[in-house]
Amino acid sequence: MKITVESKNGTYTFDCGEKEKILYAGLRQGLNLPYECATGTCGTCRARVVRGNVEVRWKDAPGGKKLKPDKGDILMCQTRALSDCVLRVPSEIATRDDNRPAPRRGVIRGIRKLTSDVAHFDLHLSEPMDFEAGQFVVLETDDLSGGRAYSMVNFDIRAGRVSLVLKRKLGGGFSDWLFARENDEVQVEVFGPLGRAVFRPEERRNIICIAGGSGIAGMMSILERAVRVDHFRNYKGAVFFGVRTLADAFYVEALARYVAASRGNLEVTIALSHETATTPTHPDYLSLKLTSGMVHEVAARAMEGRYDDNTMAYVAGPPIMVDSTIRALIIAGVPTSDIRYDKFS
Ligand SMILES: Cc1cc2nc3c(=O)[nH]c(=O)nc-3n(C[C@H](O)[C@H](O)[C@H](O)COP(=O)(O)OP(=O)(O)OC[C@H]3O[C@@H](n4cnc5c(N)ncnc54)[C@H](O)[C@@H]3O)c2cc1C
Ligand code: FES
Repeated sequence: MKITVESKNGTYTFDCGEKEKILYAGLRQGLNLPYECATGTCGTCRARVVRGNVEVRWKDAPGGKKLKPDKGDILMCQTRALSDCVLRVPSEIATRDDNRPAPRRGVIRGIRKLTSDVAHFDLHLSEPMDFEAGQFVVLETDDLSGGRAYSMVNFDIRAGRVSLVLKRKLGGGFSDWLFARENDEVQVEVFGPLGRAVFRPEERRNIICIAGGSGIAGMMSILERAVRVDHFRNYKGAVFFGVRTLADAFYVEALARYVAASRGNLEVTIALSHETATTPTHPDYLSLKLTSGMVHEVAARAMEGRYDDNTMAYVAGPPIMVDSTIRALIIAGVPTSDIRYDKFS
């Protein structure tokens, strides 16, 4: 099928496979179509079907709340083409040749619980994948409808294996599915890499990372990349990791390793939202600061007067946490162009 997209800066045409989502087909062929979550929750990939027939896979997707389906509005990440189509997208589109996402198969192995409701797992890929620190993949299994996004925890070039982390959502489809398979190897379909909340050392910025729960995933990838290129020789880093209680904190050993490799230029603070911190540092990892409070407030207090115009802020976690953090950053004078975020909705 041929998809023609009319955008604010021109008209583009690309092929779309029978079972393929329109968004994924365009991205795979190097069109930077608008998207954020790629999984139906944010609404960024909205388009209007001007001509042609489509099938909307997830009709109740939260990202589609403000759409007018009777006028042909769709979410491109939830829609397949049934014929050649013409779509209108209310934004500009760029083209790109590098690092295009692609479909792959994957095998999940090594599922291991890090806390009572957090599991780390490895995804072995059918084809190696290049990705940028901070990006994510979408996983699909035949057992569930729809895809779920997970951010890479590791960083590698031509990676044959990526590490991911899942915070269990009570009653969540993928959460229950994965937690029931702790000792299994399972096949999934993978699409990626995706996401624009990326860290690029060549941008030469100080970094601040503010994460809620599993939002730390992409930050781990960013820190790994930063440490490998000795970014903290010349730039500063601050990480704020929000969890409910100390028992909910994970990856603390790796975080302490990154602090040790940072020449004194990286500080990590764990913020406990539902427990009073009884010591100023993590009891086992003294290089990690410990404090009480909501992570965005803790970060705002700690960073007061310390932002400079060469700082890039990364934010990830539950939508409410991300929105509160972005608000706090803007109040502190950080321009929106210097904030990169992923809402784990
Ligand atoms: C960019 C991004 C990165 C993320 N990274 C991480 C991470 O590193 N770790 C982590 O724990 N979580 C991450 N998340 C959240 C994760 O994708 C899941 O939402 C979360 O794990 C809960 O999934 P669930 O299946 O257990 O819950 P569910 O409530 O069953 O599903 C949650 C999500 O699955 C999709 N979905 C559900 N039903 C359907 C359907 N019928 N058709 C189509 N789609 C459907 C939707 O996107 C929905 O929001 C990320 C989210 C985004 C957007
Ligand atoms: S990108 Fe399609 S709803 Fe978020």
